[in-house]
Amino acid sequence: MKIDECKLLDLPKISDNRGNLTFIESNRHIPFDIRRVYYLYDIPGGSERGGHAHKVLRQLIIAVSGSFDILLDDGENKKTITLNRSYMGLYVCPMIWRELLNFSSGAVCMVLASDCYDEQDYYRNYSDFLNDAKRGL
Ligand code: TYD
Repeated sequence: MKIDECKLLDLPKISDNRGNLTFIESNRHIPFDIRRVYYLYDIPGGSERGGHAHKVLRQLIIAVSGSFDILLDDGENKKTITLNRSYMGLYVCPMIWRELLNFSSGAVCMVLASDCYDEQDYYRNYSDFLNDAKRGL
């Protein structure tokens, strides 16, 4: 199942009495080269983000602060994952519809992406995504 390729990754964490430090290296801790980083913050209560899938983009999603839920859907199977640890990242492979919801107050969602922004890589319409997912694209 495609959805099983989406995995929670335990990132390195270095702790001392000054606090914690987590680092991420391309192709070592995550299975792609990082070409873009973006983050969501100041998210009003009740907001939902995502609501799209990517054709080839691969991503790692991290709750660097606070928590939120991610609903994953490969067109056949769905699962919901809660992110609430700064040292855990959710790897999301291509052709996965995702919705981000239930953001806690002050949540920050950081996304590492395998490529630069390209609107042509998006499915913004669920039925278009479903058609292609069912054809095994
Ligand atoms: P959107 O895809 O709606 O964000 P989310 O995934 O959180 O739901 O993106 C909001 C706007 O930001 C949209 O006009 C596209 C733009 N955008 C960029 O210009 N570059 C980027 O890297 C990203 C992720 C979005």
